Amino acid sequence: MGQDAEVGGADRDPVVCRCEAVRVRDLLMAQDAWAIDSLRQLKLLTRAGMGICQGRVCGSVLEALARAWGWDPAGALASRPPARPWTMQAALAAGKPNGGHDEER
Ligand code: FES
Repeated sequence: MGQDAEVGGADRDPVVCRCEAVRVRDLLMAQDAWAIDSLRQLKLLTRAGMGICQGRVCGSVLEALARAWGWDPAGALASRPPARPWTMQAALAAGKPNGGHDEER
């Protein structure tokens, strides 16, 4: 645990995004380094909100921080799942050698 990690039981540099291990300090440093002016830019440069949960855990915190910094967070954290939904019918058909198309009808 670092010197700045805890003071009086409160974490001075809390983790914002657990999936990508992004802390508040990382977000502030990114703003200083790259003159970021939107939540989308912050997301792309720090990967906050781009983890396996796609911002479901950290999204509300990121949006609150964005509002506090004067940014409009609308649409910045739209999740993009790595796969699209599949129907059970398509899954079952994929398991058949002929793709589910019976030729003996
Ligand atoms: S906690 Fe941020 S993407 Fe999962």
